[in-house]
Amino acid sequence: MHILSPSILSADFACLGAQIARADQAGAQYIHIDVMDGFFVPSISFGMPVIQSIRKVTEKVFDVHLMVEQPERYIDEFVRCGADIITIHAEACTHLDRTLDYIRSKGVKAGLALCPSTPLSVLEYLWNKLDMVLLMTVNPGFGGQKYIPEMTEKVAALRKMMEERGLDIDLEVDGGINDDTIRSVLEAGANVLVAGSAVFKNSIEENVEKYLKIMQEYE
Ligand code: DX5
Ligand code: ZN
Repeated sequence: MHILSPSILSADFACLGAQIARADQAGAQYIHIDVMDGFFVPSISFGMPVIQSIRKVTEKVFDVHLMVEQPERYIDEFVRCGADIITIHAEACTHLDRTLDYIRSKGVKAGLALCPSTPLSVLEYLWNKLDMVLLMTVNPGFGGQKYIPEMTEKVAALRKMMEERGLDIDLEVDGGINDDTIRSVLEAGANVLVAGSAVFKNSIEENVEKYLKIMQEYE
């Protein structure tokens, strides 16, 4: 099943609720929420109060991507604010095994994100604790960056690893997904697609519908 997860980092924060409602009504299945701490990544985005507010405007899955050092400090709070999936970074957390277990123990799905240069081998002893793997296809920290072409091969390698192990884990890609790159990540085997600037630029409805239609070709 293919899923579109519009990243609200590129939305107009002056009317965030309305923009999310438009993406929801156009058919996006998830809402991707990028939390940045100004430490793991250079930027600071937004945190719990914003997530709590937008929880009122949509019932869609909140796909929370924590670009935060020591994310274990905040799991309880993100669950309380309405997260449905919590994705932590392999590079930002020393005790991944424990933290992924902890996320699931709170009744939400656990995701693990890898920066472009982080090898897939970090997943080896964690497969049974994962609901989703997020492959960064840009270096995390900003919206509107250019897709790193080498990542297509990484997506394909991860899909192969999952197939060989008979695992039903979502493979999310994040960064630089647009008209020019969407087909290559779908062909490589990604099934959850994050798109920020490509969705929130111009008509949100037209963009969501366009990407959902392309994704259907790969069902
Ligand atoms: C980058 C974030 C992304 C970002 C994607 O660090 O994790 O989710 O919003 O933006 P685009 O789709 O514009 O590359
Ligand atoms: Zn993200």
